[in-house]
Amino acid sequence: MNPQNPAPPPQISIDTVWLPKQNSTLAETVDFSWDIVMFVSIAFFMLLMGMMVYLAIRYRRHSEFDVTSDRDHNARLEWTWTIIPLAIVIALFFVGFKGFLYASVPPAEAYEINVTAQKWSWTFTYPNGVVTNELTVPAGRPIKLIMSSTDVLHSFYVPEFRAKRDVIPGLYTTLWFQALEPAESTLFCTEYCGGGGEGQQGSGHSAMWTRTHVLTEPDFDAWMRSQEDDPNLPPAQKGAKLSVTRGCAGCHSADGSKGNGPTFKGLFGRPEKMSTGQDIMVDENYLRESILQSQKQIVAGYGAIMPAFEGQLTDKEVTYLIEYIKSVK
Ligand code: CUA
Repeated sequence: MNPQNPAPPPQISIDTVWLPKQNSTLAETVDFSWDIVMFVSIAFFMLLMGMMVYLAIRYRRHSEFDVTSDRDHNARLEWTWTIIPLAIVIALFFVGFKGFLYASVPPAEAYEINVTAQKWSWTFTYPNGVVTNELTVPAGRPIKLIMSSTDVLHSFYVPEFRAKRDVIPGLYTTLWFQALEPAESTLFCTEYCGGGGEGQQGSGHSAMWTRTHVLTEPDFDAWMRSQEDDPNLPPAQKGAKLSVTRGCAGCHSADGSKGNGPTFKGLFGRPEKMSTGQDIMVDENYLRESILQSQKQIVAGYGAIMPAFEGQLTDKEVTYLIEYIKSVK
């Protein structure tokens, strides 16, 4: 279980035996193409298998003296079975292309959210600077996601939205959708992006899911106000918030339990053994270096898997995180 999301993920909502519930304007188009392809495939499968079985029985060898017909060609039949499937695949192309165009061109007025993927968490940055690790969007408004990865290939996927696109390091990919109604669903990573270390549960590709909340417009506004930074919050509490939104909590527990990285509990002021055999006292400067240049000093027994946050966190944010780590005793 992902420590960032202690509750189990909401299920994919399925209201039929067929596809998940539709919760975006794109879903109908996608499902239409899917249904047609499925229907055509099933119809042809039954037709072809039926004919094969029928002909095998009808023209089976009756006796040792049966001879095979010398007919080897029927132009009319061959034209028929060439033209009909060709017409069908051309029609399917246009059905798919129409949906592809719709999915590829976000409306100009779309609300933009930046998405950052990293091993193994999602970060969402809203236009006003609010940062979260769960995706919250208003229903009925087009949303454009501008996505990038800080490490390896990931892929954004919300089944109910029928929205899926690769998230790539060093490149922005975009994806847009417009949710239909308030609901909660699960966002998955669908590109295998590595596993947690041995015996380290709750991390790795399979744990790289988060929640998606679709809210009504007024609820969304209220939620956004609640997220905006409270200037009166003590630094350690700001750091605690950052630890969740920036993905630290995904690997570093606050309760002493073992994760991909050392727990924050009791970390400050303690000597730690490095992979080089050296002992280092955990102080502010050590923590700062471990956050910004995470590969420099690795605590013995842990993999060098933490992304470096150089250029991704401000000095203030690093200070808040250090204050938070100091406060976890
Ligand atoms: Cu990220 Cu799989």
